[in-house]
Amino acid sequence: MFEVHLSEKARSLKPSSTLAVTARALELQRQGVNVVSMAAGEPDFDTPDHVKEAAIAAIRAGRTKYTPVQGVPELRQAIADKFARENGLSYTADQVTVSTGGKQALFNAFFALLDPGDEVIIPAPYWVSYPEMVAFAGGVPVPVDTRPEDGYDLDVDAVRAALTPRTKAIVINSPANPTGAVYPEATLRAIADLAVERGLVIVTDEMYEHIIYDAEHVSIATFAPEHTLTINGASKAYAMTGWRIGYSAGPLPLIRAMNAIQGQSTSNANSVAQWATVAALQDSPESRAFIERGRGLFRERRDRIVAGLNELGLPTPLPQGAFYVMADTTSINPDELEAARVILDDARVAVVPGTDFRAPGRVRLSYATSLEKIEEALARIGKLTGVGV
Ligand SMILES: Cc1ncc(COP(=O)(O)O)c(C=O)c1O
Repeated sequence: MFEVHLSEKARSLKPSSTLAVTARALELQRQGVNVVSMAAGEPDFDTPDHVKEAAIAAIRAGRTKYTPVQGVPELRQAIADKFARENGLSYTADQVTVSTGGKQALFNAFFALLDPGDEVIIPAPYWVSYPEMVAFAGGVPVPVDTRPEDGYDLDVDAVRAALTPRTKAIVINSPANPTGAVYPEATLRAIADLAVERGLVIVTDEMYEHIIYDAEHVSIATFAPEHTLTINGASKAYAMTGWRIGYSAGPLPLIRAMNAIQGQSTSNANSVAQWATVAALQDSPESRAFIERGRGLFRERRDRIVAGLNELGLPTPLPQGAFYVMADTTSINPDELEAARVILDDARVAVVPGTDFRAPGRVRLSYATSLEKIEEALARIGKLTGVGV
């Protein structure tokens, strides 16, 4: 029988472990097993009504054709205005490009930046896709570890020590997935200074900027605008994961190269979703109230899950942003893959092992789920650890 020989690139790409755990939990649920999933990477509430209405109006108005590769001008202007209003960043609409999710924006960026062997500094624990994307684009991911006892803050001296003549870029993700870390302004300033000194590009992923608690979001581009590509999107802020809208802003030559790459792959992001995102990003009482409400819900859940996991004997630092916690599960099993398997098979709670995040001995739990589900998950895990809450 003929067997398709897959490319080296395809064979070396690791499937996303987060999606794999979510899929396994869904499969168990389909088989009738009652699983509480703490694996999700998306808000559990619905897209706001005014955004849905804008999409419906766009469909009715026939805005259903190809758009410019970089996005409709109205959306790029709304994004430039958002950057000015919320982040103190000054971009023209030409310096903005719209993609199919933040994921595609990052993909385009790494393909536009990296030659074979170019190194990219990635603070760890990291979102699983960064090293995979860098490697897929021909680059070399260089992790720089951060520690829970430092609130996962990035040590600029450790970054400096990891630089080589091949270092091209550094990824910043604050608030971070999976750690929830929010870097202090001093760290961001020091990284920006280093990028200027050493001629590096900063790729900053600010997807979780609005899901932040006792800290202020600061965009690193304010300190080194010429060195920075700022990436953001509608997915997490406006509960729009399925609409697939991400966007980037930065130096014009880089944005043009990203447009050229996108023009030969997906062309434009979905036209209807672009019009929906105009409504989400324009300053309105509805959009502001939605973000405030989400932040309040996530804060309540964060406080409960962190307290609960610590009571169960699973040390868990209090994160300042995003909707994930990293629990130390070495008391269940020193190997986090085994711990995650036991938590799923015996407690029927889906969590993501830290392995692919470079977080040994820990698992990631998402609290983008109801308080009732959080209580249920804690009760189930409590039976495993024998502590109970
Ligand atoms: C840190 C981070 N960046 C980017 C993304 C991609 O988001 P999207 O492609 O939905 O915009 C995610 C999604 O989980 C994420 O956690």
